Amino acid sequence: MHDPDTGFLADLVLAGGTVVTGTTRFQADVATKDGLVALVGAPGTMPAARETVDVTGQFLLPGAIDVHVHFREPGYTHKEDWRTGSAAAAMGGTTTVFEMPNTHPPTRSLAELRAKQAAAAKSHVDYGLYGLLAEDNLDELPGLIAGGVNAFKCFMGNTFGNLPSPSTGAMLEAFEIIAPSGLRISLHAETASIMAWRQARLVAAGRNDPLAHVAARPAIVAVEAVSRAAVLAEWTGARIHVLHISSAAELRPLAESKARGVEITGETCPCYLLLDTGDYARLGSVIRVNPPVRDAADAAAIRAALMSGVIDMIATDHAPHTPEEKRKDVIWEADCGFPGVETQMPLMLNEVAQGRMSLEHYVRISAENPAQAFGLWPAKGRIEAGAEADIAVVDMERRETIRAERLHSRGKITPFEGVEVTGVPVHTLVRGRFVQRDRRLVAETSGWGRQVTAIQRMPPARVRNADRTLAACLQAPAREEA
Ligand code: NCD
Ligand code: ZN
Repeated sequence: MHDPDTGFLADLVLAGGTVVTGTTRFQADVATKDGLVALVGAPGTMPAARETVDVTGQFLLPGAIDVHVHFREPGYTHKEDWRTGSAAAAMGGTTTVFEMPNTHPPTRSLAELRAKQAAAAKSHVDYGLYGLLAEDNLDELPGLIAGGVNAFKCFMGNTFGNLPSPSTGAMLEAFEIIAPSGLRISLHAETASIMAWRQARLVAAGRNDPLAHVAARPAIVAVEAVSRAAVLAEWTGARIHVLHISSAAELRPLAESKARGVEITGETCPCYLLLDTGDYARLGSVIRVNPPVRDAADAAAIRAALMSGVIDMIATDHAPHTPEEKRKDVIWEADCGFPGVETQMPLMLNEVAQGRMSLEHYVRISAENPAQAFGLWPAKGRIEAGAEADIAVVDMERRETIRAERLHSRGKITPFEGVEVTGVPVHTLVRGRFVQRDRRLVAETSGWGRQVTAIQRMPPARVRNADRTLAACLQAPAREEA
């Protein structure tokens, strides 16, 4: 029924829940219309609606925004594709993902971006797409920017896909090219040359055990890479983001760069908070991930940084592989990474349930901060009138056990197998539509997801040293002599 006075008919009212923001929570009903939040108001004050869902006792969180997933399509669809990966996101309360370019082929050019967009058209959830920043595609960067890429990814160290790492010279030129766009450059911040050197020495010495992987990638690789990238960002004005923070040591260059005004943000992932080197004996090659899970002291420092704001957000580095690719006797042969987009919210809500984090803080690190860092704010990351209705309805009493056979990802093998959590997203809405309902995927929402380019607004760039870029120098070769 339309409202008799105004004629307004909401699409959906979520009634009886508690809305959570980054700073507070309050009892409120939420009405949606045409994909947006239309009203947030006192219980019982909502307009007429096509459908009303009782969410009494449950919490309404802005859907998680995960800026680091690998959905593997095109090229590695035996591990994952856009339908299965985005289904996992929907089941995990994640309403927007940013997907990485280390597919086959990688997302290096406008044509490859168009192919990625075609694959992503199956998505259940909204998405940003990363373009690759490599040594051999600098000429493609302007086309990727004009073509609607949402961020860039630079592999400073080798990882799955074996994309070569750009030299510092090529990185500087790429930062110069990208800086004016304001788009953020996300870094796999581990220095390739240190790791290659050490791995060769460890292999030669016959080390094949899981902890040899940690020995090949000591925290200095992250300290060096974060510091170097921050120097380039400060020089050019490019915005950067440090992916999968794994060590206490790299927090120093991150915090110092922030204090200097460098536009730098950082993420960590559940495995770096919840696992440590004590887990390698139990998990073997399943735990192999780049960068590696480190000591308990690292996990404690990362947790403190996530609470203090030095680390801005939680992401997952969702990196599915098959059991055969993960289970290897020789550690160097095991593929790196594991799925995470479906388990992030339950694992973190369990931290809330155990009293180690507030629900408000979780909203900051899972939704508000990523929305702001990647230009989706104010359209996403909040439940307020005018925002897109991306909502995770959470039951903080519900218990579940993480089991491979329950995961929607194609590559199901996870180090969190058998972990019991308290706190689960029981419904997920993307722009007002249920993509998950009562712990079941709404299969027909494949294709509902759309790219965030239309709503993305990066703050204007503060480009520095524009007169000294390589492009400027190439345009004015005779300036010195004149
Ligand atoms: C990721 C993957 O498999 O694509 N693997 C990983 O160990 N993290 C790549 C990456 O993010 O480094
Ligand atoms: Zn990485």
